[in-house]
Amino acid sequence: MTDEAFMRRYGSWAVVAGASEGLGAAWADALAARGLGLVLFARRAEVLETTAAGIRARHRVEVRTVALDLAGAGLAGELERLADGLEVGFGVFNAAHAPRGQFLELSLEDQLRSLDVNCRGPLTMAHVLGKRMAARGRGGLVLMSSLTAFQGSPFIATYGATKAFNMVLGEGLWFELRARGVDVLACAAGATRTPGFERASPRGEPGMIEPAQVVEEAIARLGRAGVMVPGRFNRLASFLMRRVLPRRTAVGILGNRTRNLVLPS
Ligand SMILES: NC(=O)c1ccc[n+]([C@@H]2O[C@H](COP(=O)([O-])OP(=O)(O)OC[C@H]3O[C@@H](n4cnc5c(N)ncnc54)[C@H](OP(=O)(O)O)[C@@H]3O)[C@@H](O)[C@H]2O)c1
Repeated sequence: MTDEAFMRRYGSWAVVAGASEGLGAAWADALAARGLGLVLFARRAEVLETTAAGIRARHRVEVRTVALDLAGAGLAGELERLADGLEVGFGVFNAAHAPRGQFLELSLEDQLRSLDVNCRGPLTMAHVLGKRMAARGRGGLVLMSSLTAFQGSPFIATYGATKAFNMVLGEGLWFELRARGVDVLACAAGATRTPGFERASPRGEPGMIEPAQVVEEAIARLGRAGVMVPGRFNRLASFLMRRVLPRRTAVGILGNRTRNLVLPS
């Protein structure tokens, strides 16, 4: 799709929730490159503003920043105020809270926070923005999911379950809202070179790809699929895990891998 066609379909403003770095910043950059104005959310105001300044300089679009915690109860009101004042044609829910470790050793509070950020957040965005997009008959919504969504993911079990929520929600809405002109996509990313991922897994992962590749492959699938997996290696790995191996074997392979990554040796 040309930049002009993208703007006609999804303009003129995009909201990216969780945009100060990594995949969220890559989404913001790619949307600005296509001419959309941006409203960016994240907690760290200074980091967010630095990202916004870079995007303004590169793409000459208007970029607004809002420092907020997406786990808070104010998200729906914030999005409503925004969408009442601006024509928001595109939304990306990117932020995630990902506690790692043994389920019973991680605090309940920390894991419930994953539900707030990773489930309540995207559901809220899809509802508030989706309503207005459907009324206009055009728009796009992306919910960031993960390969951990496809099966139980030991030692990141709650995070994986929240990513399954995003995948199933996105896929359901893809079918439901396409008749109303809104393209919904769940992007099930694998290991991606983001600051957050590198802090958590400094040794990296096989098949690791760059954030910009994830975003461009996702954009190419908008409207064509409800769920997509970016990266050829990840598509092959997910095919093997889902279609070839017995489910319990797949969970075992993942569990042995995440145990080594997550638990102190
Ligand atoms: N990186 C990977 O390998 C990978 C693999 C599979 C799926 N994914 C998915 O891709 C998405 C992005 O991954 P990432 O590695 O770029 O994530 P990340 O490092 O965790 O950061 C995501 C962004 O969200 C913001 N954020 C996090 N919690 C927030 C909160 N409570 N309120 C407001 N903003 C918040 C962060 O900024 P602040 O800290 O400034 O708030 C940051 O800008 C996630 O949904 C993740 O599940 C990533």
